[in-house]
Amino acid sequence: MHRPNTPPAFAPKTPRFGTMPLYISAPTAVELVQRKGLKNCIAGIAEKIRSDFLRWHDFDKSARVANHSKNGVIELMPISDDAAYSFKYVNGHPNNTAIGLSTVMAFGVLADVATGAPTLVSELTLTTALRTAATSALAAQTLARANSRVMALIGNGAQSEFQALAFQHLVGIDTVRVFDLDPLATAKLVANLSGSGLQLQVCASAAQAVQGADIVTTVTADKAYATILTPDMLAPGMHINAVGGDCPGKTELAAGVLHAAQVFVEFAPQTRIEGDIQQMPGDFAVTELWEVLSGAKPGRQNEAQITVFDSVGFALEDFSALRFMHDAALACGLGERLALIPQMVDPKNLFGTLLNAEATAVPREVQAAGV
Ligand SMILES: NC(=O)c1ccc[n+]([C@@H]2O[C@H](COP(=O)([O-])OP(=O)(O)OC[C@H]3O[C@@H](n4cnc5c(N)ncnc54)[C@H](O)[C@@H]3O)[C@@H](O)[C@H]2O)c1
Repeated sequence: MHRPNTPPAFAPKTPRFGTMPLYISAPTAVELVQRKGLKNCIAGIAEKIRSDFLRWHDFDKSARVANHSKNGVIELMPISDDAAYSFKYVNGHPNNTAIGLSTVMAFGVLADVATGAPTLVSELTLTTALRTAATSALAAQTLARANSRVMALIGNGAQSEFQALAFQHLVGIDTVRVFDLDPLATAKLVANLSGSGLQLQVCASAAQAVQGADIVTTVTADKAYATILTPDMLAPGMHINAVGGDCPGKTELAAGVLHAAQVFVEFAPQTRIEGDIQQMPGDFAVTELWEVLSGAKPGRQNEAQITVFDSVGFALEDFSALRFMHDAALACGLGERLALIPQMVDPKNLFGTLLNAEATAVPREVQAAGV
């Protein structure tokens, strides 16, 4: 006999939405960014990332779990502090665009550490582009020369416009020299950024793009030991924002570039596996970005030094971005509640949900209230 779905004797105080997380779909994320403005979103996420990196030791951190296959990788990226937990599901399949799919697709979850109840389910494809650009710009604020105005942008795919605009708004870049093996990708970037106020210079090669650049962003996708940048392309004082080499067997910088530079990373145990420094010995000297942001270690030490931010994407950036999107969606009245977890009057009577549809129905007042 099943137990009737009656309230338990202890009558717990149920939160208003119980275990119904907020859901931010891909179209909702677009509406949110349009309402708040892209610049404000990137700046807001950068600020959240900065403040979370400044409390580095509060977090239970690990390198992401990666399942590799012939065409790409699927990764899970968990992290938590005392109050909140998050994970991101993300793939990297460089050949996807040839069959009409994105190279990078992602979604993620925020949860309450005290109960384990999910509080947010969100798209993270658009949000990953925002947080990656925000992290790159945050790193460049401390590592690039203060008077940097010209950036080379090699790889003009899905991430590229976000990088260009983050560097315009947060770093002061006014000119972007662009190159991609695919001229259609470059044409798309030029069209998308035509009203941005950035001066765009289309280049015929990576070597041409880096000429005169203060900052070089590499954001290419190729599952190969690529050498987009070689030591002969470097100039004194350059800052390199290496975004595309983010997986074992997938790099963008020749080893000589890393030897010539001071290298900065997000979370060294993960970057040593996935970043451009995977080519280097295990004791190759790197500085973690949080150490620079907190003032514990120096960033750029002189105007001639070459700095590299070997970005791979760390779970803490997604934690920060998920919290930004959650708070922004609530403030804008966007998103909906998701009946992801069974809603039970008696939480011990899971079986009863099969017998009594009313027990799991979304409460009417919640349906009406939206968020
Ligand atoms: N570090 C991070 O946090 C982070 C976050 C997101 C994406 N990524 C990585 O960034 C890269 C770009 O992502 P995306 O979503 O823009 O991919 P995408 O496929 O949309 O664009 C990649 C572009 O790189 C170009 N390309 C490939 N090889 C090149 C070369 N040798 N020279 C010039 N251009 C070349 C392609 O033609 C393509 O237009 C991927 O490798 C992805 O894994 C890193």
